[in-house]
Amino acid sequence: MENRAVKPIGGYFQLALVQGKEYYPELIKLNTSRNALEYLLILKDYTRIYFPYYTCEVLLEPLRRLNIPYQFYKINKQLEPVLDFEVGPTECLLYTNYFGLKDAVLKQLQATIGNLIIDNAQAFFSKPIPYSDTFYSCRKFFGVPDGAYLQTNTEDRLILEKDYSTERVGHLTKSIDYGIEQGYADFTTNELNLKDNDIKSMSLFTRALLRGINYRECKTRRIENFKFLNEQLMLVNELELILPEGVPAMTYPLLLSKKGVKSKLIEKKIFVPTYWPNVLKWTSQNTFEHKLAANLVCLPVDQRYDLQDMEYMVNVLKKII
Ligand SMILES: Cc1ncc(COP(=O)(O)O)c(C=O)c1O
Repeated sequence: MENRAVKPIGGYFQLALVQGKEYYPELIKLNTSRNALEYLLILKDYTRIYFPYYTCEVLLEPLRRLNIPYQFYKINKQLEPVLDFEVGPTECLLYTNYFGLKDAVLKQLQATIGNLIIDNAQAFFSKPIPYSDTFYSCRKFFGVPDGAYLQTNTEDRLILEKDYSTERVGHLTKSIDYGIEQGYADFTTNELNLKDNDIKSMSLFTRALLRGINYRECKTRRIENFKFLNEQLMLVNELELILPEGVPAMTYPLLLSKKGVKSKLIEKKIFVPTYWPNVLKWTSQNTFEHKLAANLVCLPVDQRYDLQDMEYMVNVLKKII
């Protein structure tokens, strides 16, 4: 009893959160997924990384920090790598599981590419393939300020300091008190504050939030919403990709040649993101990646919405297109 840290008793009440279970309790818990990539690159000591043109530029942060050469590669109409190069034994290839819809190609890539790193930032519910190096980014799917999971096929671990998220929750709390639009400025500040941070372990606050999520409900909603949108929009969708059903995807990707659809939706308060603005700078106008970044309309299908919301969104969209 003498050595027991003194546990405070009494005083004010803490925020009451549901005490459930994390979705990936067994994985390494980190502050961001770009730092999960850095973690992997430190463990594996790769001499080069092959990197898709079509992804988020913050993933370059660890490459610059570690001074690892990178080479861009293209994707085909199925959003799969165009493998017209060899990945050497000390090199690796990063692949993004786009919108959570590319599970089927992961095993194939894992079998053909020796050193594959799977970016499941857009595929939270895609369970990691055994022995694959795979990372996740929690705030792309849930209202948390930060947080990432990492699976790696080595036993080595880095010793890390703990992160703290208290200064990054403004948008989460404001959106409840004032509404989603009033929290937007804080959201963008939070995104900026996540830049160039050291690799740290996930904060206790983010972990507590992640334990309070009803993951089964989140999955069901996403699957139903996605199915509805696909039924309604598959005939106008120019994406030459068979969209798998029954997958709790991140968003419904709708490719249209018509310009200006995204901004018209935003005017109607249907907030669709651009994945990814940096791709417009990295690629020339005649490339598939450029077209995706410019024209892909990513419709929300997440757990905040039901089929009535989907129907409303489709009606607004059909008037625009
Ligand atoms: C596909 C993809 N991977 C990784 C990241 C980086 O995630 P994080 O912000 O958790 O580092 C992003 C964007 O932020 C992304 O869009």
